[in-house]
Amino acid sequence: MVAARAASWWVVVSAAPLLLGLALALALAADAGQGPPAAADDGLAAQLERGREVYAFSCTTCHGATGAGFAEARAAFPADHYDCIRCHGPRNPPQMTPQQIELSQSVFSLGVAPPLADADALARFGTAAALYAYVRATMPRWDPGRLADDAYLDVTAFVLHLAGIHPSDAPLRFETLATVPLPAARPQP
Ligand code: HEC
Ligand code: HEC
Repeated sequence: MVAARAASWWVVVSAAPLLLGLALALALAADAGQGPPAAADDGLAAQLERGREVYAFSCTTCHGATGAGFAEARAAFPADHYDCIRCHGPRNPPQMTPQQIELSQSVFSLGVAPPLADADALARFGTAAALYAYVRATMPRWDPGRLADDAYLDVTAFVLHLAGIHPSDAPLRFETLATVPLPAARPQP
């Protein structure tokens, strides 16, 4: 009897962290379910949240989760997929039709995606409009233009965020993109 008691006590103790974790996860899920108030959808925070999702789906595989570039992206793949050029022939074009893929038994080249979390590199675009136009016309590199314009706008805002460029407290909008300059990072003192 004593032994049985001790055993069930042990079960409770050892399961406590698990239950706590579960309760936390449930609380978080309940929180996420409620979502932000409708008005917040127009805000910068909401735009960055949408942009973060677009980035995760369409950009992370080449530019890395934090925008550190191809090395970061590659490190996230499992070991048996690590050798990208085994399938993504470096001399292949950046985009290939299913027929080309079938014929060559290899897929589009990935290039070497540069870091995006780099304000100086992004500064060369001059304005948010030029950055948006570039991303929309060329990214994701294997299928440019596949996203909706709104998604390109949101991901442009998120890329600026990754680079630590915060042009204003307001979200990026199509009408004002051209008036948003991209300053180079200040030199470190
Ligand atoms: C298949 C790999 C790949 C994917 C996916 C991809 N990129 Fe790129 N990206 C590149 C490469 C490679 C370059 C360098 C220029 C080139 O070769 O086209 C680049 C360049 C860029 C640049 C210019 C950076 C600079 O400093 O010049 C930006 C901005 C950019 N990508 C944003 C994005 C965004 C946003 C997405 C997702 C919507 C994305 N990329 C998806 C491979 C990729
Ligand atoms: C075993 C072969 C193989 C290896 C290894 C491989 N890929 Fe791929 N990859 C593919 C195929 C096949 C597709 C789909 C092509 C299509 O249908 O258009 C693809 C698609 C992609 C795409 C576009 C679709 C998406 O999910 O974003 C990216 C980006 C990509 N691979 C990146 C990589 C990177 C980075 C590596 C190395 C870390 C890698 N791949 C290694 C075969 C491979």
